[in-house]
Amino acid sequence: SGAPRPRLTFLGTGYLGATYAICFAELGYDVLGVDVDEPKISKLQAGAVPFHEPGLDDLLRRNIAAGRLRFTTDYREAAEFGDVHFICVGTPQRADGMGADLVYVESAVTSLVPHLTRKALLVGKSTVPVGTAEWIEQLVSKHAPAELGVEVAWSPEFLQEGHALEDVLRPNRLILGVKSQWAHDMLITAHKGVFDLAHNEDREVPVVVTDFATAELVKVAANAFLATKISFINAMAEVCDAAGADVTQLAKSIGYDARIGNKFLRAGIGFGGGCLPKDIRAFQARAQELGAGEALRFLHEVDLINQRSRGRVVQIASELLARPYGPAGPDFSGLNIAVLGAAFKPNSDDVRDSPALAIARSLARHGAQISIFDPQGMENAKRELPDMTYAPTLGDAVTGADLVCVLTEWEEFRYADPNALGDLVAAKLVIDGRNCLDQALWSAAGWTVRGLGRPSV
Ligand code: UGA
Repeated sequence: SGAPRPRLTFLGTGYLGATYAICFAELGYDVLGVDVDEPKISKLQAGAVPFHEPGLDDLLRRNIAAGRLRFTTDYREAAEFGDVHFICVGTPQRADGMGADLVYVESAVTSLVPHLTRKALLVGKSTVPVGTAEWIEQLVSKHAPAELGVEVAWSPEFLQEGHALEDVLRPNRLILGVKSQWAHDMLITAHKGVFDLAHNEDREVPVVVTDFATAELVKVAANAFLATKISFINAMAEVCDAAGADVTQLAKSIGYDARIGNKFLRAGIGFGGGCLPKDIRAFQARAQELGAGEALRFLHEVDLINQRSRGRVVQIASELLARPYGPAGPDFSGLNIAVLGAAFKPNSDDVRDSPALAIARSLARHGAQISIFDPQGMENAKRELPDMTYAPTLGDAVTGADLVCVLTEWEEFRYADPNALGDLVAAKLVIDGRNCLDQALWSAAGWTVRGLGRPSV
């Protein structure tokens, strides 16, 4: 619409920053992606996305070609280029296992702001402990040229891997944690492309304007709720198993109540990835520091249920393979187990805290010979668990298997032909760790199917 648009930088070109940089270039902004990781920057500048996200490669190449998108390792260049700088660096779990480590946030801010030559806005996007925005504001006032009046804002992101383009281009809400009208207006302008797209498609993007602390908390509260929802249904799965009931029918039935909703109620081996597990731990640690630890004690239980869900696969394998628990658990030696899935969820190559890999490791520790196949996650899985055997195809993975475990619900597994696979295995036993198979179909093909929280068929 011709109005001047601010130039944007995204500090940190990991999953979050790279996706945002590419999508905002696609919306028409002039964008610079910044990272200290030289090989990553070269790769992006050469048009290759360093992780798997459907559709992103094309957008990257198109926007580099259009001259709207560049990448650099030079923070001085970033300071000169940008009007709005989005902080997208990682906030890993601290070595003590609980709180979030803010070293990358600190170095991004202190690398950037001394080089600023005009007023700019720093916008936090990374998932952080509440209070971080205030701390960044202090860092800025210490390191930025005082006369510029550099400001800070907080605008958390909610993107889901495998669905990230949609989540950035068509967000279901925008949260603006701001302290001034200037910061508010700047953020709105920086998202004009998002509003224009919504307008063209006859949609609304709800905007919540709030304070820093609330904006920061929205993010962790949302992830805590999602984790709780998953652990709730997995707890129900445990009860269903004990009672001989079917958790998939139960989830469907409670989900018809709009107050409950039918999303995020898929029972199985639980949540993993780079976000939910670490976020609920960091949230508890932060609440503890604030003297509100008791309020989040239930998240500890959410975590325990999640860990237990992973353990269920080993228990079921022990039953199916008639290898009872000894003092060190079941002994699977001499048995071949095919593990289908390595990524923490389908349409992703991310294996961080992946339930599938945790289970593969545990089955191997109990003596099984494991063969892993994943459509996208193999490279990352090999780096994480180099000692496992990896199969080049689904067919190779299951050949000769005494048990097949479906641990990531890729379409390739869900719609695999149980008759064809049945010809390859040593025994037609399958654990459906994601309750994603058409159990009647598999059963008709002669398989014994065990889901989680479902009667055996
Ligand atoms: C999650 C949130 O969904 C995003 O909104 C948030 O922005 C993101 O974390 C983040 O903090 O950056 P993501 O980690 O990509 O996104 O993945 P999810 O789709 O939430 O799945 C998380 C895990 O829960 C997966 O292992 C998935 O298999 C599991 N899950 C999900 C279930 O076990 N059952 C379900 O019903 C849904």
